[in-house]
Amino acid sequence: MSQTFHGNFFIEGEFRERYVTIENGRISGISVEPPQQDIRRVEGHILPGGVDIHVHFRDPGEIHKEDFSSGSTSAIFGGTTTVFDMPNNTAPIIDKISFDNKLQSIGGKSFVDFGLYQAASGEIVEEAIGEKVFLGKSTGGLLTDIEKASFSGKIVVAHAESQECLESYSRKERNLQEHDLARPVECELRAIEMLFNSGIGNLHLAHLTSIQTVELGKKLGFSTEVTPHHILLNTESKLGAFGKTNPPLRKKSIQEELLNNLGNLNPDIVASDHAPHSVKEKEDFESASSGVPGVETRIPLLLMLVNRNVLSLAKAVSMFSTRPANRMGIAKGYIAKGFDADFSVFNLKEESMISADDLHSKCGWSPFEGFTGIFPKEVYLRGVLTMSEGEMDSQPKGVFIGGERKGKTSH
Ligand code: DOR
Ligand code: ZN
Repeated sequence: MSQTFHGNFFIEGEFRERYVTIENGRISGISVEPPQQDIRRVEGHILPGGVDIHVHFRDPGEIHKEDFSSGSTSAIFGGTTTVFDMPNNTAPIIDKISFDNKLQSIGGKSFVDFGLYQAASGEIVEEAIGEKVFLGKSTGGLLTDIEKASFSGKIVVAHAESQECLESYSRKERNLQEHDLARPVECELRAIEMLFNSGIGNLHLAHLTSIQTVELGKKLGFSTEVTPHHILLNTESKLGAFGKTNPPLRKKSIQEELLNNLGNLNPDIVASDHAPHSVKEKEDFESASSGVPGVETRIPLLLMLVNRNVLSLAKAVSMFSTRPANRMGIAKGYIAKGFDADFSVFNLKEESMISADDLHSKCGWSPFEGFTGIFPKEVYLRGVLTMSEGEMDSQPKGVFIGGERKGKTSH
């Protein structure tokens, strides 16, 4: 069955009034003239749906802070239609049994299309989209023996902080400044060098925190990722334990340099590293779990930065949708023939104040309280209206994206 939408679509870096025809959830044609069939007019700026390659939806194991239903609802309300979920569940995803158990727990709960990583363990799970390696301990305490990372050709996402380096800087951590001192940029640089020397192929560097680390990653031929929290928050932010995350928020000068050069630096991907913890788990700095939520605010904040002329809309769209889709080898991230009809519709002039009360993560707080963002009015997943003016489709329609795309490296 086919359907045509008429509206202002972001195509090849600019808005164009077009008729976009969809068959079985995919774009089958784009035309200037109306085709002969029912046409639905869509009002607003229509961008490709967001792809977030780094989320922790905590399902199964810690569903008191998030599950796939709440996490994917939060994604949709922030204009993200596809996510890739990390394997540091309470029982880590290291083999076929734990992977299948996770998939079963997620069941039909996802409102967004999703793929799942496995932790590098020496055993390859065919259905995993890729592997995660932890070079330094973080939430969940996973640490990867680098020899265990496979050479399967699938993406290997690295949490690049060197454990040896972290141990050498170990100290009391009672506030954001001390947390930064305990896990300095140097430990990221050391981990990136180790990864380079390991010879692992198809590497992607998660959550880089400074110009220096993005530049080194690029120079060595890795794909690079930054997060909204490292771009916008720093050790002076009045967040206390709510700003505790790994790698840490950096001091103001490093953060501002990263923000002000974002366009030129051009990291490949902006991912959220959505890592929700309950308010209770953030009460005391020293014992608090590390991680901040962000799947719902990622695109709204980037669009706000476009309005502030920090980066162009074309670059923002490539960072939150096109490049992550390409990197994972999925037919999403472009409004073009043959790609999935995932759209997020905005009024790009309309900024609103971010307040945790309006967000949908189970954790109930946001480190971006008081920032402004541009949130979508409507979101379509494979041609189906999933959210309209704050109302969700009652039926989750997200599908699982398996790991059959291994070896695809274009980005
Ligand atoms: O701060 C973090 N939180 N860093 C990680 O590497 C994991 C994450 C989590 O799962 O909470
Ligand atoms: Zn993470």
